Amino acid sequence: MPEIILKNVTKMYGKFAAVDNLNLTIADGGFVTLLGPSGCGKTTTLRMIAGLETPTEGEISIDGKVVFSSEKGTDVSPAKRDVGFLFQNYALWPHMTVEQNIAFGLENMKWSKDKIAARVTELLGTLKIESLGKRYPSELSGGQQQRVAIARTLATNPSVLFMDEPLSNLDAKLRTEMRSELKRLHAETHATFVYVTHDQLEAMTLSTKTCLMKEGIVQQYAPPLEVYNNPANAFVGDFVGSPTMNFIDGTAQNTPGGLSVKAQGLDLLYTPGAAGVTVADGAKVTLGIRPEFIRIDDSSRVKAKIYAALPSGMETIVKISLGELVLTLVVFGAVDYPVDAEVGISFAGENCILFDKESGKNLGLGKLTVV
Ligand SMILES: Nc1ncnc2c1ncn2[C@@H]1O[C@H](COP(=O)(O)OP(=O)(O)OP(=O)(O)O)[C@@H](O)[C@H]1O
Ligand SMILES: [Mg+2]
Repeated sequence: MPEIILKNVTKMYGKFAAVDNLNLTIADGGFVTLLGPSGCGKTTTLRMIAGLETPTEGEISIDGKVVFSSEKGTDVSPAKRDVGFLFQNYALWPHMTVEQNIAFGLENMKWSKDKIAARVTELLGTLKIESLGKRYPSELSGGQQQRVAIARTLATNPSVLFMDEPLSNLDAKLRTEMRSELKRLHAETHATFVYVTHDQLEAMTLSTKTCLMKEGIVQQYAPPLEVYNNPANAFVGDFVGSPTMNFIDGTAQNTPGGLSVKAQGLDLLYTPGAAGVTVADGAKVTLGIRPEFIRIDDSSRVKAKIYAALPSGMETIVKISLGELVLTLVVFGAVDYPVDAEVGISFAGENCILFDKESGKNLGLGKLTVV
């Protein structure tokens, strides 16, 4: 089973770096998502690993074998890289039934009729589309077509599977359903999945590791919960999580009790966690706190006003005004607070992230209190 290693991979289009000095190791059997806003270089990265795009510089190896090296002039063709593709437009052959679509690649590989039939049956089972084998693509729903496309891609047993936004054509409900199917499929096939998405929730829920990119440069490559709880910088913190992280800009002053932060009409105290932080007096900082770590707490002496409450059934997003700030918090269940009602609030645990305002760099986690 293969490990994929990218070393100093760069792709230039003229003077523009679509991917800039990328270093990435994709573990054997991993489910890695390439995540980031439109145009950040996700598809380009995937296409370079697959051999569909030639890097300007760098080296790529799959399973210990160098498949591309700008220095040595190596460039192994896509067909010889033992990888499967599933792209956004997963066109099935309209004149072939589901079974024929799935069997197509195997026939090309000159498998025997019996072996092909057995493999097709197995895949129809895996993708839970047993009853659809004799139908034509036009007789299937979008989600069913998607499954057939996945079955077709899996047929030849690729040890690496590349997927570029494969669920983007589906409605929200089907997308959620297909996410579980993909996760099961990954567990069952033991293949290495490299998955492109701009949907942070998809990346969070599916991957063993997320590579978050911005303008061709990797911002963080870590397991999704680490990206969520300890983002490398403010861009990452803002990109993952919904509702988004609250950001509070201020000026820091070292005091015996921690960092005093004067922020938009508020006096805050940031107490660093065990790891500690070093910040110069007068430094411009940004405090980041996720909505679930702001609590409505009537015993708190810190009072805020309800700006708006948005109950959606399972949870309620509440916007509160605190000083000049409007912060977002989330409570479980449907709770309706009248506009302008006064509530007590507190910040839970050591869950506030101190960012350097200028660079956005994460300086450390700590506890936030209102003085
Ligand atoms: N053939 C090309 N010629 C010039 N520029 C290109 C070419 N292909 C891609 N680019 C540029 O490279 C950058 C990265 O493109 P890429 O397709 O990798 O983005 P992406 O992260 O997949 O975005 P999306 O989420 O919109 O699919 C973009 O700015 C794009 O305009
Ligand atoms: Mg893309």
